[in-house]
Amino acid sequence: MASLLALPLSCNLFSLLRMVFFMVFVSANAPLSAPTDTIYPGQSLTGSQTIISKEGNFELGFFSPGKSSNFYIGIWYRKISKQTVIWVANREKPVLNTSSAELKLSDDGHLVLLDNFKNFIWSSNSTRQTSNYTSAVLLDNGNLILRDLSNNSTVTWQSFDHPTDTFVPGSWIGMNKITGEYQTLTSWKNSEDPSPGYFSETIDPSGTSEFFIEWNKTIKYWRSGLWTGHYFAAVPILPEMKPHTIVTVAYIDNKERRYTTCFYRDPSSSKITRQVMDVAGQIKQFVWMDDLKDWALFFSRPSLKCDIYFLCGPFGVCDEKSSLVCGCAHGFQPASLRDWQLNDWSSGCERKTKLHCSGNISDEKVGFLKMPNTLLPSNYLHLSAYKLEDCRSACLSSCSCSAYAYNGSGCLTWNGELRNLQQLYDGDDSAQTIYVRLADSDLPSSSDDNKRSIIIICIAVVSGVGAVLCALLCLALRCRRKMFIIIKKEGEGPLIRFTYAELQYMTKNFSEKLGVGGFGSVFKGTLPDSNTIAVKRLEGVQQGEKQFRTEVSTLGFIQHINLINLRGFCSEGNSKLLVYDFMQNGSLDSRLFNENCEVLSWRTRYEIIQGIARGLAYLHENCRECIVHCDIKPENILLDEKNCPKLADFGMAKLIGKDFSRVLTTMRGTIGYLAPEWISGLPITPKADVYSFGMMLFEIISGRRNRIPEFDFTFFPAWAASKISQGEVLVLLDERLKGDVAIEELVIVSRIATWCIQDSESHRPSMGQIVLILENIAEVNVPPVPGSLKELAENKDLESDVYYSATLSSS
Ligand SMILES: *[C@@H]1O[C@H](CO)[C@@H](O)[C@H](O)[C@H]1NC(C)=O
Ligand SMILES: *[C@@H]1O[C@H](CO)[C@@H](O)[C@H](O)[C@H]1NC(C)=O
Ligand SMILES: *[C@@H]1O[C@H](CO)[C@@H](O)[C@H](O)[C@H]1NC(C)=O
Ligand SMILES: *[C@@H]1O[C@H](CO)[C@@H](O)[C@H](O)[C@H]1NC(C)=O
Ligand SMILES: *[C@@H]1O[C@H](CO)[C@@H](O)[C@H](O)[C@H]1NC(C)=O
Ligand SMILES: *[C@@H]1O[C@H](CO)[C@@H](O)[C@H](O)[C@H]1NC(C)=O
Ligand SMILES: *[C@@H]1O[C@H](CO)[C@@H](O)[C@H](O)[C@H]1NC(C)=O
Ligand SMILES: *[C@@H]1O[C@H](CO)[C@@H](O)[C@H](O)[C@H]1NC(C)=O
Repeated sequence: MASLLALPLSCNLFSLLRMVFFMVFVSANAPLSAPTDTIYPGQSLTGSQTIISKEGNFELGFFSPGKSSNFYIGIWYRKISKQTVIWVANREKPVLNTSSAELKLSDDGHLVLLDNFKNFIWSSNSTRQTSNYTSAVLLDNGNLILRDLSNNSTVTWQSFDHPTDTFVPGSWIGMNKITGEYQTLTSWKNSEDPSPGYFSETIDPSGTSEFFIEWNKTIKYWRSGLWTGHYFAAVPILPEMKPHTIVTVAYIDNKERRYTTCFYRDPSSSKITRQVMDVAGQIKQFVWMDDLKDWALFFSRPSLKCDIYFLCGPFGVCDEKSSLVCGCAHGFQPASLRDWQLNDWSSGCERKTKLHCSGNISDEKVGFLKMPNTLLPSNYLHLSAYKLEDCRSACLSSCSCSAYAYNGSGCLTWNGELRNLQQLYDGDDSAQTIYVRLADSDLPSSSDDNKRSIIIICIAVVSGVGAVLCALLCLALRCRRKMFIIIKKEGEGPLIRFTYAELQYMTKNFSEKLGVGGFGSVFKGTLPDSNTIAVKRLEGVQQGEKQFRTEVSTLGFIQHINLINLRGFCSEGNSKLLVYDFMQNGSLDSRLFNENCEVLSWRTRYEIIQGIARGLAYLHENCRECIVHCDIKPENILLDEKNCPKLADFGMAKLIGKDFSRVLTTMRGTIGYLAPEWISGLPITPKADVYSFGMMLFEIISGRRNRIPEFDFTFFPAWAASKISQGEVLVLLDERLKGDVAIEELVIVSRIATWCIQDSESHRPSMGQIVLILENIAEVNVPPVPGSLKELAENKDLESDVYYSATLSSS
C-alpha cells in the first residue's frame, strides 16, 4: 500500500517543482542574479550581468572593445587581468545600449539577442533543432552550448561550431561533412571592431588536411602544408628551437567532420594559450604570462608580414625591416589615419595631390616617383618598348596607368591601384625600380638620391677605421630615413611638467653628478616629498618644442616593472630634461665588473636576466609602437634596492630628433654590442637588440667584459660559443661564484646567448621567445657557433683584427 501511495505523491512533487520553476523563471522573465553558468528558459542576461563557467575560467556578457561605444555579447577569460575576448556573438551588429538589450532563449529553443526595441540583433540559428526546451551553458573550455533540458547530452548548438577569430584548446577549425558548415577563423576588422575583416584561416575545401590563410576569402597567401601525422608540414615552430608544446595538436578526419584541434598537454597546468587570426593578417599563438600580466607571442604565421596579401592597402608600402610595417611612398599619405592607428592598413595610402586626367590628357603636370629596391606587384601589363623613355611615355599617355617599370627588355605597366608594393634593400635579387605617377608638386627634390649614394660609398669603403666611422654615418642617415610616418598620441599623459628652476633647486644646482650617458649627464635630486630622482640633462636635442613634448608624452605611457619610470620632464628653450626614479643600486656594469662590490649571486643574475628580457619584450612586442632600444649594454641596466633591473635610455632616438649624429660621439663604448647589420648598413630591427642582449649575457655569466684585450687577445664570446656548442658551460662561469650555480639555468642562458648572436637575424629568437625559454615554457636547442665567430676562433690570422676592435672599444 505504501508504495502505491508514494508514487502519485512523487509525481505531484515533480509537477509542483516544475510549476515553481516556471513561475520563477518563465512568468517573470527574470534577470539573472547570483553567479551561474547557465541561462534557463525565461531568464535573460542584460546590462552588466554575466554568466561564469563552473571553475571560473570564462565569462560571458556584454563588452565594448577599446574605446568603442558599441556593445557585443562575448566570451572572455575571467582569470586574467587583461580582457581578452575569444568569441563574439553579434560581431556584425552591435547594440548601443545594454541596459534594455537582452540575451535569452526564444520559445523555439534558440539563443537570441534583442535590442531595446525587441528587434533581433543576433540568433544562434541552429540548423539542428531537436528541442524547444533548452538552456545555454558556458563551459570551462570557453564553449557556449545550448542543451536539451530533458536530456542534457543533446547539444543543439555550440559556439565552437561558429568560431570568430580565436582558436583555444578544445575548440576546432575545419568543416562539418554533414551540415557542410566550415569552422573558419576570421580576423576582426580592427582592434575595436569585431566585424569580419579581410583575413581568414580555413581548411582546404577540396578535402585535403591543409589549412589556408586567405585574403577576402579568395587569395591564399599562406598554406599550413599537409598533416604529417604529428604536425602540419609548414608549422614546426622554429627550425632551430624545439617548441615546447604546452598543447598537443591533432588533425581528425572521420565520418562527421575533418578538423584540427588541440589539447593542453597537462590538463592541470594553469598555463593559458590561444591562437588568433590577427587583424593584421597573421595567425598568432600567445601564452599568458602571469608575471608579465600580458600575453607573450609564441609564433606567428606567415612569419614575414610582407607576405600577407594586400596588408598595406592600395599604394601602401610594406617594409619588413621597419617597426611600422606599413608606410606610404613619398607624395602619399594614409587614407584613414584612424584606421591606421588601429593597425588596419587596408584603406592604404592616397595621393596628397589628386590627379585629374581625362581623354588621356592630364590636367596638371605629372611626373614619376622613382622607387628603387622595390618588389614589383605581380599584376602588370607587358608592353614592348625599346627604351625606358618609351615606357615612360606609354604610361604617361594613358589616364589609367599608375606606374611603370623597365627591366632591360620589356616595359611593365600597372593600371589603377598598386597592390603589395614592398620595400627591399640593396643586394636583394628581386629588387627592381618602379616609377609611380605623381603630381609634379608632390615629387621629391633630388636630395634623397644623394643619401643613397653616400650609403653605397659607405659599403664600398669598408676597411679599418673607415668602416666603423662609416657605419656610424650610415646609422645617422638611417635614423633620419626612418622618420617616415609615425602616428602620434595626444596629451602629456601621466607626466609631471617641471620648470627649470624647480629642477635646479631639487638637484642643488646640478651638483651631484651620477654619470654621463649617451645623451647627456645625469644628476641626483630630491623631490619635495623626499623621493629621490635622477635628472637627465639632454644634450643636442634637435626636436622642436611640440615634437619633443609629443615624444616625451609617448614615453610617459610606456610603463613596465622592468623599464625605468619616467616621472616628468622640463622643456624650456634649449633646456630639455627628463626626470626618472632614482635607482639605489646603480647600473649593472658597476655591480658586475667592480672588484670592490659584493659578487652578484647566480640567483640574482638569473632574475636580472629574466627582468631585462621581459622589459625588452615589452618594448618590442607590447607597446603600441614597437621600440628598438638600439643601445643595450650593462650601463643601461639600472638596479633598484631589490636588484630588480630597469632598462634605461629607451626611446631616445625619437626624443633627440632628426640629427641623431649626437650618437656618433657615444657609440664607441658600445661597439662590442652592435649587431653585424649596424656595420653592414642593413636596416635595424628588434633583432639588433636581441644581438646586444646576447653579448651582454656573456658578460653577466662570466662577470667580465667581452672585449677587454687579455694577454691572448681572445674574444670571449667566440671562445664561449664554441664551448657551449660542445656542451661545456661551467668553464664560462664567473670564477668568483666558485661554481655556485643552478647548472640547468646556466645551460639555458648560455644557449640563449649564443642563439642571440647568430649572424642572421632570422636565426635569432625574438625577445618574446626568450622570455618563454627563461620561464621554462619553451626549450632551447644546442646552438651552432655563429659563422663570423667561428672564423675568429679558428683563423689565427684574424686575431689581429680582434685585437684591433677590442682596443677600439676600450679606448
Ligand atoms: C538606455 O536605455 C535606458 C532604458 O531604456 C535609458 O534609460 C537610457 O537613457 C539609455 N541610455 C542611453 C545612453 O541611451
Ligand atoms: C539562419 O540560417 C538560415 C539557413 O541555415 C539562413 O537562411 C538565415 O538567414 C539565418 N538567419 C539568421 C538570422 O542568421
Ligand atoms: C515545445 O513544443 C511542443 C510541441 O512541439 C509544445 O507542445 C510545447 O508547449 C513547447 N514547449 C515550450 C516550452 O514552448
Ligand atoms: C545529465 O543528466 C544525468 C541524468 O539525467 C545526470 O546524471 C547528470 O548529472 C546530468 N549532467 C549534468 C552535467 O547536468
Ligand atoms: C539523450 O541524447 C543522446 C544523444 O543525443 C541519445 O543518445 C540518448 O538516447 C538520449 N537519451 C534519452 C533518454 O533520450
Ligand atoms: C572582396 O570580395 C568581394 C566578393 O568576392 C568583392 O565584392 C570585393 O570587391 C572584394 N574586396 C576588395 C577590396 O577587392
Ligand atoms: C587612353 O589610352 C589607353 C591606352 O593607351 C587606350 O586604351 C584608351 O582607349 C585611351 N582612351 C582615350 C579616351 O583616348
Ligand atoms: C622583363 O619582363 C618580361 C615580362 O615579365 C620578361 O618576359 C622578361 O624576361 C624580363 N626581362 C628581364 C631582363 O628580366
